Formats: sequence, C-alpha cells, structure tokens
Amino acid sequence: MNTIQNGSATQELAGKRALVTGGSRGIGAAIVRQLLEAGAEVLATARSTTYAAPDGAAFVTADIRTEAGTEALAEAALETLGGVDMLVHNAGGARANEGASAMTIPAEDWQDTLDLNLLAPVRLNALLVPGMRERGSGAIVHISSAAVLPPVPAFAHYQAAKAGLETYSRALAAELAPSGVRVNALGPGRTATPGGEETRKRWASDDEGSGAVNTPPLGRDGRPDDIADAVLFLVSDRASWITGTYFSVDGGEYPRN
Ligand SMILES: NC(=O)c1ccc[n+]([C@@H]2O[C@H](COP(=O)([O-])OP(=O)(O)OC[C@H]3O[C@@H](n4cnc5c(N)ncnc54)[C@H](OP(=O)(O)O)[C@@H]3O)[C@@H](O)[C@H]2O)c1
Repeated sequence: MNTIQNGSATQELAGKRALVTGGSRGIGAAIVRQLLEAGAEVLATARSTTYAAPDGAAFVTADIRTEAGTEALAEAALETLGGVDMLVHNAGGARANEGASAMTIPAEDWQDTLDLNLLAPVRLNALLVPGMRERGSGAIVHISSAAVLPPVPAFAHYQAAKAGLETYSRALAAELAPSGVRVNALGPGRTATPGGEETRKRWASDDEGSGAVNTPPLGRDGRPDDIADAVLFLVSDRASWITGTYFSVDGGEYPRN
C-alpha cells in the first residue's frame, strides 16, 4: 500500500532494493534520488568519489569494466542490500576519439566501450538475476542511447555497444518473463550532464547532417530527472505488464518508427 511522505511523494517502492551503476552524477544521480524519494533502499556505484552519491544512498566504488569489478560490486550489493529487486544499468559512455573515422578507433577504446556499455550489464545480470528469479520478481533497466541509429563514425564503438545492449535486453526479457522478472531498455536523448556535455562537443563535429546538434522537437534539452521519471515508471508496479521494450526519452529527436 502506498503511504505519503513529506505531504507529496508516494512511497511506492518502499521495501524494494535497488542497485544503480554510475549513480554518482548526471542521469544516475537523478535515478538514485528518485528511487530514494519513492522509498527504495539504494546502492549507487561509480569508480571515484569525486561526486558524492545522493544523501541517503549507500555508495561503493567499483570499476565495472572488468569481471573482477562486477564481481566485487555484486558481492557488495548482496552484502549491503541482501538482494537486488531493481537493477539500473546506467554507467556508460565512450572516450572521444580523434578523427571522425569508424576505421581508426583504437582497439583499446573498442574494448573499453564494449566492457562498460555492454559487458558490464551482462556480467552483473549473470550474478544478480538468479536471486530475482528465485523470488519470482525483479525489474532491470538498461540505459542505452536514443542516438544509436544515425551513423556517427567517431562513435561507432559506442553506438555498436548500445545497439548490442538493446538486442541483448530483448533476448533477456524473453528468457526471464516466465519467472516474473521484467527487462526493458531506455534511450536518453541529449541530456544535460557532465558526461553528456563532454560527448556532445565531439559528437557535434562528427555528426553533420544527422540533426543531432539541433534542439530536440519538444524545444529543449533533457534534464536528468526527465530520464529518471521514465526509469521510475519502468521499475515500478505501474509497468508490471511491460517487458522487452525500448523507450526513447529524447524530446522527439530520434524517431525509431
Ligand atoms: N547525457 C546524455 O546526453 C546521454 C545521451 C544518451 C545516452 N546517455 C547514457 O546515459 C547514461 C548516463 O549518462 P550521463 O550523461 O549521466 O553520464 P556521466 O555524467 O558521464 O556519468 C557517468 C556515471 O557513470 C560512472 N562510471 C563511468 N565509468 C564507470 C566505470 N567504468 N565503472 C563504474 N562507474 C562508471 C561515472 O562515475 P566515475 O567517472 O567516477 O566512474 C558516473 O557516475 C550512460 O549510459 C550514457 O551512455 C546519456
């Protein structure tokens, strides 16, 4: 049953435990804040403590690009929370590359980008989904990008990793649906965050003609809370009949159908 706190926020996620990767700043920090406001217990993670996680969240440092990092994080999540009911794979991004060429992205950057954006979610799910399955419930959200489709050569590695994440997300949703675990993907458009601003400086110069440097049709850039609003919906029981989907949250910038 929902209760009211501070006169306004509903505690619809009270009793639920969430892990948010990249929860120290930008979109991840907004997701952490909204989960806390909805009554969830939250563990946030990032590599550094430069940005503190929002007040009220537990925080652990981990570099999730490696198997050792995801294992340490899964252990910390089980120790801190006792189990994970909601898993938001938000950490992501790509190093900006010199030269607008998909041909010359260094092998190391390919590996890094695939590790962070695709394999970290795959590895964490392998460790944390079995508990969800046993309990017969759980909600996973994979944060992709709305801008996966327009060709941007310098970001081919990032776009390929996010496209792979979306495909994997659909397959995992089909496999887990009978056990009551829901899996969805969400693609933010241009959202004002430290990582987003950094990426866009590079993206804009490589993206002639695709429209990515224009203001989104709804007339403004996204705010981290625009993305968090949609994530909160997807992890809540209001989305209890939604799995295997992809949502764009991008002000209408990248129509997919
Ligand atoms: N902002 C946009 O316009 C936009 C658009 C499309 C998609 N997205 C996607 O939305 C998600 C969030 O983006 P954002 O703009 O909020 O990013 P951001 O400002 O760069 O924040 C990224 C977060 O992830 C953490 N992180 C990065 N690498 C990590 C690693 N190896 N291990 C653990 N944590 C790591 C960062 O902390 P540390 O650096 O301390 O590790 C930080 O907390 C990403 O998946 C991004 O691809 C964003």
